Amino acid sequence: MDIMKKRIAVLASGRGSNFQAVIDAIKDEKIPATCVALITDNPKAYAIERAKKAGIPVRIIDYATFPSRDVYERALLSARQEVDADLYVLAGYMRILGAGIVRAFPGKMMNIHPALLPSFTGLHAQRQAVQHGVKVSGCTVHFVDESLDGGPIILQHCVAVQEGDDEDSLAERILKHEHECFPEAIKLFCEDRLDIVGRTVRIR
Ligand code: GRF
Repeated sequence: MDIMKKRIAVLASGRGSNFQAVIDAIKDEKIPATCVALITDNPKAYAIERAKKAGIPVRIIDYATFPSRDVYERALLSARQEVDADLYVLAGYMRILGAGIVRAFPGKMMNIHPALLPSFTGLHAQRQAVQHGVKVSGCTVHFVDESLDGGPIILQHCVAVQEGDDEDSLAERILKHEHECFPEAIKLFCEDRLDIVGRTVRIR
C-alpha cells in the first residue's frame, strides 16, 4: 500500500521532540506517510541525530553560511523542490519564511505553535501566556501563510494554566499535547481529509 503514502519533509531547528513524535507515529502506522527528509538551518540541531537514527535523509542548509536571507531562501527553496514532498512540516523551525517560499507551497506547509492562536504569536508564547495571566493556553496546528502564525487553524488542544506555573512548567505541559496534536493533524492531511475554505479548515 506504499503507493498511497504521502511524502512528508520536516523542517526543524532544535531538539526535535515534535519531529520524534512524527517519526514514531509513522513507524506505528498511525500516519500513512514516508518521511523523505529532515531539513535544518542548524548543523547542531539534535533533530539531526533523531533523523539519522530513523534512517531519514538530512539536508543541512546552515543559515550562518549564507550572505543574506534572500540567498538562504533560494537554497531552501531549491532543496524543497528537490525533496518534492506532498507536505512540509515545520516542527520547531525557528525562521520566518519569506513570501516567495510560502507562495511556492500553498496549502502544503504546516506549523505547530505552543499557544491557542490567534493569541501569543511569535517567540516565547508560553512566557507570554503566563505573563498575561490567562487561565487556559494550549497548542495550535495551522497551515502556513504569509502572516506570522496566522494561517488557517487545523487543530487545537487546550491546557489549563495552573497557579505557580512559569514558562518552563507550562511549556512542558503544552509539549505533551503538541506531541499528540501534531501527528493527528498530519494524519488528517495524509488521509486527504483537510479542506481549506477561506481562513477555515474543514475536517472531513
Ligand atoms: C515547540 O514548542 C513548538 O511548538 C515550537 O517550537 C518548539 C519546538 O520543540 N514551534 P521541539 O524542537 O519539537 O522539541
